[in-house]
Amino acid sequence: MRNSITAFVFIIFCLLPIKYVVSSEIGGEIFQDNCSGCHTIGKGNSVGPDLSGVTIRREENWLIRQIKDPDGLVEEKDPIALQLLKEFNMPMVALGLSDEEIKEIILYLKNIDNNISQESTSSTALSSRYILTIIISILMIIFITLLALKVGKKNVDIK
Ligand code: HEC
Repeated sequence: MRNSITAFVFIIFCLLPIKYVVSSEIGGEIFQDNCSGCHTIGKGNSVGPDLSGVTIRREENWLIRQIKDPDGLVEEKDPIALQLLKEFNMPMVALGLSDEEIKEIILYLKNIDNNISQESTSSTALSSRYILTIIISILMIIFITLLALKVGKKNVDIK
């Protein structure tokens, strides 16, 4: 009984990183459908600014507001919004996305930015995804060893 609970918890733990990856794919789709008409990521400015590195140069709360209610930022005379308006000669429109969808997009942009900054700072550093895999493998070895020890003990008991 205890073994099956341990196994269950272990499987859930293994599935966590998968959810993380899938989640950023959803964000990518929302971006393709709603944003890619005016924005590129790393291919230069189009109607709006290139969004490469945007999660590094802006605060997350500011990004949420910019996506959710860009007019509100301009009305408040937010200095960054006014500067962008001047530079691109047109305001961005609110797209009516839900908070959940906005979160997915920001997660997607963050994933891209993290990969870029990792590549440019150190190409030899293990990416966090590899580290997760290694930790999971180690846990798996410990788990299997413990299981084997238990089975071994049972055999001794029978004798
Ligand atoms: C109709 C064209 C258009 C669409 C569609 C659009 N944007 Fe924009 N976006 C702009 C323009 C123009 C600006 C710059 C002027 C401004 O901020 O109002 C901008 C600015 C931004 C900024 C600020 C960039 C910076 O350098 O700080 C972010 C972030 C952003 N957009 C994200 C998005 C996201 C995410 C979507 C999709 C949900 C999206 N935009 C859809 C036109 C668009």
